[in-house]
Amino acid sequence: MTEHILCELNENVLIVKINRPQKKNALTLDMYSALTDAIEQAEADDGPRVVLITGSSDVFTAGNDLSSFLSDIEIVGDHPTLRFLLKLATTDVPIVAAVNGAAVGIGTTLLLHCDQVLAAENATFSLPFINLGLVPEAGSSLLLPQLCGYQKAAELLMFGDSFGVDEALTVGLVGKITAVDKSLEHALVIAKKLADKPRAALRKTKQLLRPDKELLVARIESECKDFTVFLQSPAAKEAMIAFMERREPDRSKFD
Ligand code: COA
Repeated sequence: MTEHILCELNENVLIVKINRPQKKNALTLDMYSALTDAIEQAEADDGPRVVLITGSSDVFTAGNDLSSFLSDIEIVGDHPTLRFLLKLATTDVPIVAAVNGAAVGIGTTLLLHCDQVLAAENATFSLPFINLGLVPEAGSSLLLPQLCGYQKAAELLMFGDSFGVDEALTVGLVGKITAVDKSLEHALVIAKKLADKPRAALRKTKQLLRPDKELLVARIESECKDFTVFLQSPAAKEAMIAFMERREPDRSKFD
């Protein structure tokens, strides 16, 4: 249990709100576990029919909590981050996302697993792994080229620059753009419409739309192994300490 993930049932939609505004909704291990629990709750035969993930009005999530990356961690086995990623990637429950403000790192890559993504005009997206001396995660090295082609995927993952809603719509990461502060309202309408569909047929449709789960699971696990190795690199440590100390990284420490 954590107060940083709030779950509320609205008719047959489980609204899951990332709620750690003082740290820009950066995700801790407890928060990953709570997100996994929420999806599992919806997987029950009589559970909520759709999960709607959202953040605050000014930030979706700043991604993984960088301070937790500074301790020795291995993202393998039943590590909460890996459990969440595998649950997100393999569940048959439809997932809708409503994005306001920044969606950084896993905040962007988790969207690759959502069935409908609505983003407000103030939303921004980024895959900054490379700038932290890290590598892609959440199956993004597989899903992003499938979504938008190799060149664009390489641009997004090799430069790590932030991009806005228009580009997110063009690459297919986002399905609809809404006015600022309206993404949740619109997402809830869509989620309820999905929740009105026959449950078994809807889940089967998602399964059919997302074949090759074994390949995706294997990629997520291998990315996490690489991620674990790169977390220990001098470049990653310097980049993360520099962020926490609010300074530019010393690039002489990069390999
Ligand atoms: N992990 C831990 N703490 C984080 C965080 C993260 N990923 N992102 C933000 N925070 C914390 C900051 O340290 C700061 O804490 P403090 O007030 O105790 O010093 C607080 O949240 C506010 O962050 P700040 O950077 O001042 O907000 P901003 O509005 O200027 O910028 C972001 C917002 C999201 C653009 C910026 O915080 C950011 O780039 N965060 C890091 C994103 C990142 O690299 N994520 C990891 C990807 S793998």
